[in-house]
Amino acid sequence: MESIYADRLPALKAVLDRLLDRVEQVRRELRSATGMDPVEHCLGRIKSEESMREKCRRKGLPETTESALTQIHDAVGIRVVTSFIDDVYRIRDALAGMEGIRVVEEKDYIRHAKPNGYRSYHMVLLVDEQIYAEIQLRTISQDTWAALEHHMRYKKTLNGNTALIAQELKRCADELASTDVSMQTIRDMIMGQS
Ligand code: GTP
Ligand code: MG
Repeated sequence: MESIYADRLPALKAVLDRLLDRVEQVRRELRSATGMDPVEHCLGRIKSEESMREKCRRKGLPETTESALTQIHDAVGIRVVTSFIDDVYRIRDALAGMEGIRVVEEKDYIRHAKPNGYRSYHMVLLVDEQIYAEIQLRTISQDTWAALEHHMRYKKTLNGNTALIAQELKRCADELASTDVSMQTIRDMIMGQS
């Protein structure tokens, strides 16, 4: 079967590299300015053929290049995991301010957590008016929680205590968020910003 991305794969890869390069650049800048690495880790990917086709079906879209590149906005995806909350916003600004980039969607699930406790900063970028990329920015704590919650979602609960699990997960998310704020305060004190 022909790739759902047809001949656009090199263009998607070029966009991915451009975004990852910018993250590395801002990472170096902040590291030399503060002596601390703002990025704990950074992942980039082109959505696999199978996941893209599955997403098209799930959204009731035809499995075409048109759907994959214009209706679905995460063919290109990057996730940047930071040590501190303010690094999320610094990296956000660096990416949003790039030449040729327009921010078409922004969801601040850090200031406004989802009801289940999920926290992360999401942005959809339109690059050169033709290729979309989804950016997820989150702290280590937020990333740990999201990984656990994702894992639990696909596990069957054997004893019917789904509601209690959801409630406990939410409590953990809120405790982690409070710790993130404390850690940020400590960092600001160390850096002499408060
Ligand atoms: P898309 O059409 O897939 O973009 O959905 P959306 O725009 O309604 O979703 P949103 O931008 O809120 O989330 C997109 C991605 O964020 C998901 O594919 C997940 O990777 C992540 N995400 C969002 N909510 C949750 C959550 O509650 N838990 C976890 N673990 N991840 C989440
Ligand atoms: Mg989305």
